[in-house]
Amino acid sequence: MNETQDRGQWNNKLGFLMAVVGSAVGLGNIWRYPYLLYKDGGGAFLLPYFVAIITAGIPLVLLEYGFGHKFRGSAPLSYTRANRKFEWIGWVPAFASMVILSYYCVILSWAFNYLVKSFNFGWTSNPNDYFFGEFLKLSDGPFDFSHFNWSIVIGIVIIWTINWYYTYRGVSSGIEKVNRFLMPTLVVIMIIIVIRGVTLEGATAGLNALFTPQFDKLTNIRVWLDAYGQVFFSLSLAMGALITYSSYLPRKTDLNNSAFITAFANCGFEFLSAIGVFGILGYMATQQGVPIDDVVTQSVGLAFVAFPQVLLLMGPFWGKLMGVLFFTSLIFAGITSSLSLIETFTSSFIDKTGAERKKVATIAGLIGLATSLMYATGAGLYLLDIIDHYINAYVIVSLGMVEAILIGWVVGASKMREHSNAISYIRIGSWWEIMIKFVTPAVLGLMLVLSVIDEIQKGYEGYPTAALLVFGVLMVATLLVLGIIMRSRPWHNPETVKYSGFEHDYYKLEQKL
Ligand code: TRP
Repeated sequence: MNETQDRGQWNNKLGFLMAVVGSAVGLGNIWRYPYLLYKDGGGAFLLPYFVAIITAGIPLVLLEYGFGHKFRGSAPLSYTRANRKFEWIGWVPAFASMVILSYYCVILSWAFNYLVKSFNFGWTSNPNDYFFGEFLKLSDGPFDFSHFNWSIVIGIVIIWTINWYYTYRGVSSGIEKVNRFLMPTLVVIMIIIVIRGVTLEGATAGLNALFTPQFDKLTNIRVWLDAYGQVFFSLSLAMGALITYSSYLPRKTDLNNSAFITAFANCGFEFLSAIGVFGILGYMATQQGVPIDDVVTQSVGLAFVAFPQVLLLMGPFWGKLMGVLFFTSLIFAGITSSLSLIETFTSSFIDKTGAERKKVATIAGLIGLATSLMYATGAGLYLLDIIDHYINAYVIVSLGMVEAILIGWVVGASKMREHSNAISYIRIGSWWEIMIKFVTPAVLGLMLVLSVIDEIQKGYEGYPTAALLVFGVLMVATLLVLGIIMRSRPWHNPETVKYSGFEHDYYKLEQKL
């Protein structure tokens, strides 16, 4: 079994947990969850949220951990080992990871630029005009690239260099090591932000607005689907990242326990950031004498417009300090997620071609860098918005559905459950099979249908149809074609795909090693 050892392995379970929580905790936790919680019913949203965690989040984390661990491979290798016909399905997340990365790193480049600007409030007294005008120099539409923003290019180069370096170093001495530093530091930074946030004047108003339950929202199906969407995105599901990371676990490890820890840690971080963000927004509303509703935003608007505004209000000392902490938290959370995305791509190619990690990581870094540059143009924000929409609304959701159906029905949910239970202290019951075989595919299927209906009726954010076709539909079609092309290529060593996963003579195998 040398082949499994050559792929790399975590030093220990803590290292693995840091890496998977690092993958899960990302921009989604910091800038999306707080907004959803507020918009979708406040305290009442906790109900759909926990239902989504229990019926889809934890079951899928368990599934991916079991799948990667049993078949010991990247997404394409694990799928191929499970069933030769499924190989191409494993390639779709491998390529989709690169698409996500191409824009994820651009956001991190913005954060990096804003981190530097925090030292002198470089966003002027009108952060909104500054961000869209002077900083992004937003052009007139998605096909109008106009020019390169050099400060964004520099940030992209820095972020990709970091990503490349730790991927190049490998699983235990690169990815694990950096996660062991970044994750605890991130938690400390977030705790400082929260403490300062909740002690600001008006913070209670923000927190009341955040948590006051609006039970009537629970009758709206969209609120429930938002909860599933958030849990799904936030736990980094369906993109092959968890499959890849769990394939680096030693044979004997408590998979089920790790799945619960991952879900709870991610959820805990989401709460933390929601409290911090709303404490700060409450302060902003109080200072400006406006209702909370007027200051609540998410994603780009929150990080690059609302936050810079609040930081100005906080005065030179706290404003600059909180700016540095906030943008550092975005970068740390983002880098640990990026690393899992690159690893999904890199490990797929290492498994398929047998090439050296260093070489694959370097090629991945160069391709990623080149594609990210597209978003450093005047059209960057439009492209990012469209591509992100298609990836989230269609690619991730369909992959999750296909994954649950194939592994649940064809590979066999009971076989997977037996595998995980055989090596775990906490045993999962038959409820899990019901979730994987019925509940998860049904919910994801419904999400997909509603997205398609919305798309046909309204398009997306008023973008020209041509742009949606090129950057959305064509991009998705390319992912499928790439999957099929890769499937037609031979494995460097046909023996690798013959391995059919550990069976229950697992303990015997362990002794032989
Ligand atoms: N979970 C990450 C976040 O909250 C984003 C993400 C979604 C992701 N899917 C992923 C990260 C797959 C890595 C791999 O921001």
